[in-house]
Amino acid sequence: MAVDILLDGLKRLEYRGYDSVGVAIASEGLKVFKDKGEMSKIEPLIPRWNGQMGIGHTRWATCGRPSKENAHPFVDCTGRIALVHNGIIENHLELRKQLEEEGHTFTSETDTEVLVHLMEHYYDGDAHATLRAALSRVKGSYAVAAMVEGDGHIVVARKENPLVIGVGVGENMVASDVTAVLGLTNKVVYIQEGESAIVSADGISIFDAQGSTVDRQPTPITWTVEDAEKGGFEHFMLKEIYEQPAAIHNSLLGSLDEIYAGAVIPDIDVSSVKLVACGTSYHAAMVGKYVIEDLARLPTTVELASEYRYSPGTGECPFTVLLTQSGETADTLAAAREARRRGCRTLAVTNVVGSTISREVDHVFYTNAGPEIGVAATKTFTTQLIAMYLLGLRLGAMRQTIDRTKVRHLSTELRSMPRYVSGVLDRASQIEEVVEMLVDARDIFYLGRNINYPTMLEGALKLKEISYIHAEGYAAGELKHGPLALLDASTPVVAACVNDHTREKMLGNISEVAARDSPVLGIGVEGDRELAAITDAMIGVPRVPPILSPVPLTVVLQLIAYYVAKKKGCSIDKPRNLAKSVTVE
Ligand code: M6R
Repeated sequence: MAVDILLDGLKRLEYRGYDSVGVAIASEGLKVFKDKGEMSKIEPLIPRWNGQMGIGHTRWATCGRPSKENAHPFVDCTGRIALVHNGIIENHLELRKQLEEEGHTFTSETDTEVLVHLMEHYYDGDAHATLRAALSRVKGSYAVAAMVEGDGHIVVARKENPLVIGVGVGENMVASDVTAVLGLTNKVVYIQEGESAIVSADGISIFDAQGSTVDRQPTPITWTVEDAEKGGFEHFMLKEIYEQPAAIHNSLLGSLDEIYAGAVIPDIDVSSVKLVACGTSYHAAMVGKYVIEDLARLPTTVELASEYRYSPGTGECPFTVLLTQSGETADTLAAAREARRRGCRTLAVTNVVGSTISREVDHVFYTNAGPEIGVAATKTFTTQLIAMYLLGLRLGAMRQTIDRTKVRHLSTELRSMPRYVSGVLDRASQIEEVVEMLVDARDIFYLGRNINYPTMLEGALKLKEISYIHAEGYAAGELKHGPLALLDASTPVVAACVNDHTREKMLGNISEVAARDSPVLGIGVEGDRELAAITDAMIGVPRVPPILSPVPLTVVLQLIAYYVAKKKGCSIDKPRNLAKSVTVE
């Protein structure tokens, strides 16, 4: 029965994180069951309908909180079309308004629901043509599967979201991840960007973006279920590092175009800003201080949530931004409550829609990085950085401290960031080799200046967390005030030096370190011969405006931490003593 196959497939995708589950089965009409919550609680409630065709979904909320109404599948007003979707429909508000004016009744807060109503609008007996017509109206990204009751086939399409067809014997399956079909077949057809397909029990037809037929042979899969969960990567952390181009893209979706329209924060009178967070999120906040002061010329302070919550306060009410990828960190939640008690307007930057913090603040910015399984934060950190740039640009635009030319330039560079990050990922094998110089160290110093001081704090934290090597991030100008005493040939230094106004000073600091015989691994702009000449090894990153350099540098630092931990045989995804979400004080 289709329902059992769907539930097995969805269970294999549970590791990715979800907040609700749903299935629709073609069985004497369309039958739908969906709810918020865990698979183990929902599965026993789902009737075992007798149908041979169906679609199912586990949702990770992005637009609309986790709820039964917002869970997929969605059904049109006639009750004949059902649809599931991964991705984000950027122009959903505009489409929803038009569809409501035409008489369509919406039952959810999601962006996805516009798709099923668009299909209803265009339906003329040909589900594939109808889906293509509906998708021609949308801006955004999607992997979508839809079925019309009585049709005997499922229609699918993809743009910027993965989609795979499992080829079985007398049955075929569609999924967003090969893991879901592995128990049933080891032959799959990957749907490429812009393609669509019609899938029935005994046939698969694939079409390119223009609607012409595509001939593609299935690929045999040799992965085990466990390999596939990690998409072929050895660890979730590495998979998540590699997901950063897509995560950054999703984080930026829509927001850049709306800088002036108040998408990031509404028009409010801001005279100072306070950024509050813990751990890695605190480092994103520290980068945020440089960004906001530079772009918006606003006095900005940064505080650890665990300190802020017990601090006396000054009677001032800065605009208070709380960064927490999980949205559940106890100290950050307490800080949010304290900020509101003090009368401050609050904004949360979080990755989890419907998380506790999102209900406790005045405004929320979702980073849309997708679920992160590895305990060490990677893609949730770089997307927090993106949030800081968007916030800085918004505040700068509001206060007219940056002109439109600069906004345009930084926006263009931000749009190119997924490509720059891919450029860093292409250097992974060089980084894997070079970390030999760090693996046996007992202590390592991470040095940076200006906006890359917090970048290096984060690099050091990443290394500590997963390799258990003592690593200390330091502002390079502070070396001479103490830590220089610790440097010798057994203490390697990782130093960031980019093309900003502190470059000469940083080169001087690196020379001081090298003079104490510390092996130096430099990270700088590719082709920087001066840096290469004074370091023992150098990793180059693409040239970006210095204010954006924490993003590519961070990806190098993540890979350094990862490869050191791997060479040391550490438990990378679940480091000892640490939890993904710290919900206790
Ligand atoms: O969920 P949050 O962003 O609030 O988490 C804060 C810290 O617990 C977290 O960043 C922690 O430092 C991570 N393990 C870093 O990799």
